[in-house]
Amino acid sequence: MPIIQIKDAPDYVGQRVKIGTWLRQKRGSGKMVFLQLRDGSGFFQGVVAKADVSEEVFETAKELKQETSMYVYGVIHEDARSAFGYEMKVDHIDIIGESHDYPITPKEHGTEFLFDERHLYLRHLKPYATLKIRNTLIAATYEFFNKEGFIKLDAPLLTGSAPEGTTELFETDYFGQDAYLSQTGQLYAEAGAMAFSKVFTFGPAFRAEKSKTRRHLTEFWMIEPEMAFYDQDASMALQERYVAFLIEKVLEQNDQELDMLGRDKELLRSYTQLPFPRVSYDDAITLLQDNGFDVEWGVDFGSPEETFLANHFSKPVFIMNFPKAIKAFYMKRHPDREDVVISADLLAPEGYGEIIGGSERDTDYDYLKQRIEENGLGLEEYSWYLDLRKYGSVPHSGFGLGLERMVTFVTGEEHIREAIPFPRMTHRLRP
Ligand code: 4AD
Ligand code: MG
Repeated sequence: MPIIQIKDAPDYVGQRVKIGTWLRQKRGSGKMVFLQLRDGSGFFQGVVAKADVSEEVFETAKELKQETSMYVYGVIHEDARSAFGYEMKVDHIDIIGESHDYPITPKEHGTEFLFDERHLYLRHLKPYATLKIRNTLIAATYEFFNKEGFIKLDAPLLTGSAPEGTTELFETDYFGQDAYLSQTGQLYAEAGAMAFSKVFTFGPAFRAEKSKTRRHLTEFWMIEPEMAFYDQDASMALQERYVAFLIEKVLEQNDQELDMLGRDKELLRSYTQLPFPRVSYDDAITLLQDNGFDVEWGVDFGSPEETFLANHFSKPVFIMNFPKAIKAFYMKRHPDREDVVISADLLAPEGYGEIIGGSERDTDYDYLKQRIEENGLGLEEYSWYLDLRKYGSVPHSGFGLGLERMVTFVTGEEHIREAIPFPRMTHRLRP
């Protein structure tokens, strides 16, 4: 008898098979028990009919508790009425692991409770659908950058540098030296680009964000491509192709998961139409002022401003050339203006915020040295980085895409904690 997974049920209609499963829920009458089953590959229903099975099997089915693990045996049938399309006429059950008083019952639970129980909550429909889509985005990232001729370069997570500013650092003791958990792999990606031309890093980034928002984690995953000989225009063209590719892959591979989450697929598809609009920071400020926002040139955008700007264009939108004073030290100076840098943030519509931050990188040794000092970053930590400007420096650009921001955007989740298996936020270190 074949041992299969639920996802393969369509290939076994009419055959008797064995499947390892967990019980999600159960309902029944005196004559029938309906088992809502899952196995990690999918969901379906097992039907146990008193008339067709031994008394022992029927009694076992009736007594099953939520999250009991078991092998079920029976013939697969098509079932147009069930949400998942297939069911098994169960004729035998072998219990593997019992489960008593499972805490996440079918009633409504509060969010904090569900995240206290995240190690179990992972088994439920919403996390299942969201994290499957996260996995598609990860696999599609490798596919896209392989296709584009990039190599993956792994950056260290224990570092001495703090390129994104010193206010949000996790410090640790490294055998008597001060060390930080990495905020970004970018500086290492720049070294990699000078060796391999096109590289991307993909790993966790740590930021001691004290603000509690629905867009910030203290540990998140970031994809950071870095390209030698690319100016900012070439980088933005790559960014929009990458984002469109990610959305297309999810539409192609996660139709069922998008439906489970109630995401509007036509709306998502509209975001794959390129190019994305490009607006200068200057024009964005004017647009905001004209629409009643109390903002002045020089400020960073908050969530209401970001949401307004992207919704205004009904598309992800690039905001270009931010004030130098609010951006990182490495961004390239504008050739005609002292006060702005060659950069762009990509803002997602519907309130999902900044999904990409990127820039062209300055190539001048003396200027960068001065910026590092102005920013209060210890020069000795950056001498290796400055070497990159000493030995065959070339124009180059790069960007960082926040994986969890992208997951929330694609899935339509309200809060970023849904987008990662075990979220880390100011008040949450467990499980
Ligand atoms: O804009 P950021 O800070 O850019 C960098 O770190 C650059 N070194 C990237 C580069 O040019 N290589 O972060 C990039 C992206 C943001 O656009 C956002 O999507 C995400 O990372 N991000 C966060 N996601 C979740 N929680 C946080 N606290 C985040 N901070 C940034
Ligand atoms: Mg940013």
